[in-house]
Amino acid sequence: MIDVERARRETPGCEHVIHLNNAGSALPPRSVLNAVVGHLELEARIGGYEAHEQNDQATERVYAAAAELLGCRADEIAFCSSATRAWDMAFYGFPLERGDRILTAVAEYASNFIAFIQVARQKGIEVVAVPNDERGQVSVEGLAELVDERVKLIAITHVPTNGGLVNPAAKIGAIAREAEIPYLLDACQSAGQMPLDVDALGCDMLSLTGRKYLRGPRGTGLLYVRSNLIERIEPPLLDMHAADWIEPDRYRLRADARRFEEWEQNYAAKVGLGVAIDYAVELGIDEIWERVHELGERLRAQLGELDGVNVRDLGETRCGIVTFDATGAGAGEIKAALARERINVTVAPQSATLLDTRERDLPELVRASVHYYNTEAELDRLVDCVKIAARC
Ligand SMILES: Cc1ncc(COP(=O)(O)O)c(C=O)c1O
Repeated sequence: MIDVERARRETPGCEHVIHLNNAGSALPPRSVLNAVVGHLELEARIGGYEAHEQNDQATERVYAAAAELLGCRADEIAFCSSATRAWDMAFYGFPLERGDRILTAVAEYASNFIAFIQVARQKGIEVVAVPNDERGQVSVEGLAELVDERVKLIAITHVPTNGGLVNPAAKIGAIAREAEIPYLLDACQSAGQMPLDVDALGCDMLSLTGRKYLRGPRGTGLLYVRSNLIERIEPPLLDMHAADWIEPDRYRLRADARRFEEWEQNYAAKVGLGVAIDYAVELGIDEIWERVHELGERLRAQLGELDGVNVRDLGETRCGIVTFDATGAGAGEIKAALARERINVTVAPQSATLLDTRERDLPELVRASVHYYNTEAELDRLVDCVKIAARC
């Protein structure tokens, strides 16, 4: 079980706000804050390159920590500046040709879909969104029916940005494996919230961000690429960290996943991400998931009882992201009213998941995302304030 009191003591932000925007950017624990500030101070004191050398163990830690988190090898991990950039480095480098097909999800994230559209235009590939099943999640049967020799990539978001839905990622992985189709999983919202094991998920590539449920610093992300696939993906952007310049007209790419990285990195943030992952693993990802799941369901049940409030989350398993709209007030209005009470939520815009928004005819939604350090009393307070703001 999570020791909530201790988690809150170790999270300075808990004293100031009711933070229910963990799917946006969570409050970091003190240890992460200290690690980032400590590295910045070292840089200022002795010089940036020298700080990197002196703090080498801490800057390198993120690879082994991520390997533990995801059940992979440290050399299958690349450190990136965001989940989007991590995903891009895999996707844009992936060999695709005219006539190839990508299977994706209806609730796919805007940035991923924009990349699909661009590559579809440039290379003449086809992007197909697998229909949802009656629970509102990617239909596993529908996906299996769409698999044929044209499909060269399955790219799915595990937990979409606009709700509690958890797509059946492992079942999708089983199909991808059987059909031997590479599988890119956007685990941006699921990382740090629920257990992720790349073998159990059956994914070949996975992207995540540091600042959300992992509670790491902003401006951090990771890419996992299965070792047997690394050599098949030529990163769309290269530099002298990703490759060695060996002849005037030749370079040699790194053999490990760091070929997807940049030479210049935010080392303070990188140190902080390593600490954040260690913190989560030490607490126990299973325990975190149990509490986040429980708090999410509790909040849905409470909001569902309010007249004029519609909880919108779909799926067989639902996570810590809770979305709703209200007949009495718009999402922006509710967010602003809650902010006045120092309760942080955000608005899920329609354009972030356009296909899903259109298919379900969704308005803008209020997104309240719980973490294990939130208390039941904080959720009660949110519900009381929503009641007033939405005139329930
Ligand atoms: C599902 C999903 N994928 C990707 C991203 C992008 O993450 P980042 O901002 O780290 O690039 C987000 C951010 O909200 C997201 O919700």
